[in-house]
Amino acid sequence: MEHLVVQIAAATNMRTLYPANHPRVRETVDRVIKALKQALEERESDSLTFLIVGEDLVVDDQPLRKGSLSQAQFVEALKRRGIERLTLAAGLTQEEMIQFIDAAATGQAPKSSAHIVLGRVRVTIDKESEGGQEEEKKHEELSTEQLERVREAFGRFRSERKLPLNQIQELVWSFIDSLSHTTRAMLPLAKLKEHDEYTFVHSVNVSLLVLVQARSFGIQGAMLHSFGMAGLLHDIGKLMVPLSVLNKSGALEPEEWNLMKTHSEQGAWFLSEIEETSSLPVLVAYEHHLRYDGKPNYPLLRSPRMPNLASRMTAVADAYDAMSTVRPYQQPMMRATAIDILKRRSETFYDPLLTANFLRLIGESDV
Ligand SMILES: [Fe+2]
Ligand SMILES: [Fe+2]
Repeated sequence: MEHLVVQIAAATNMRTLYPANHPRVRETVDRVIKALKQALEERESDSLTFLIVGEDLVVDDQPLRKGSLSQAQFVEALKRRGIERLTLAAGLTQEEMIQFIDAAATGQAPKSSAHIVLGRVRVTIDKESEGGQEEEKKHEELSTEQLERVREAFGRFRSERKLPLNQIQELVWSFIDSLSHTTRAMLPLAKLKEHDEYTFVHSVNVSLLVLVQARSFGIQGAMLHSFGMAGLLHDIGKLMVPLSVLNKSGALEPEEWNLMKTHSEQGAWFLSEIEETSSLPVLVAYEHHLRYDGKPNYPLLRSPRMPNLASRMTAVADAYDAMSTVRPYQQPMMRATAIDILKRRSETFYDPLLTANFLRLIGESDV
């Protein structure tokens, strides 16, 4: 691992001396790729994530041994750009790594790509004058830039049928960062801007609510990220349902309702065709409307089964958010009513343990 860090620092240093297309730079970049391959093989893993915690570099929960100058430079370079997490994945190309070290060496902000995922934490300082006293508050907030990019991508999905997966992955990492800094009971849930963006806003909220639940069970790292991705993509199939049905005010006709119900299967099909997605989002898209007790809902299964843990968490988050957010076709329920329905449907529609835990997390439990 230390060898990999040394190689990245060496490549960055080389780039400060030579232009990006210089053979010496390419040579050092090739060494980075080789070192990454070796590190991944040793760990039998597809990717590895560096976290910056203070002055330390942490990989898989293990701080790296301190002391090397390269390591200090590497940490410093990332910190200066507000990056607190760097994931390098198998399949990393020379072009991607050159883009990364090029930015690192020239003081620009490196961008995430298919095999390099960066996580930034944006710290904003609000200065509020209160009674003549200036108070400084630090907020860790969702990166609005990342949120905007994914919001646009969701908006374009209808016409393009494409999703920028690496940006979505980056957004989920930023949710994880943001939640890890949240001590308040209130979650940084997204707000609805326009009516036709309901699916996007709902998806963001569900992702956050799934992450909070998963984290409370001790799920961490890449697995936690998969849960967040699954939450974010659970309703992607709704973007294939005509807007006239999706945003209809009033009750749906039976055929319209049938169309609406296809969103779980359509979403799962779409996601299963994206090579880079893990299986969890596919499964959750398919299963999130299945009932806990195995009674039929949709999609209809030949043999009933218990949905997997991420689907059960998504179902609870989904119901809560769907009931408590303003939608084009219905007024939000009172929070109390939404909670009451969750409680009544616990054990039939929703996993009772997860429902109780969820109510505890949102501060609605006496336990
Ligand atoms: Fe759904
Ligand atoms: Fe949903």
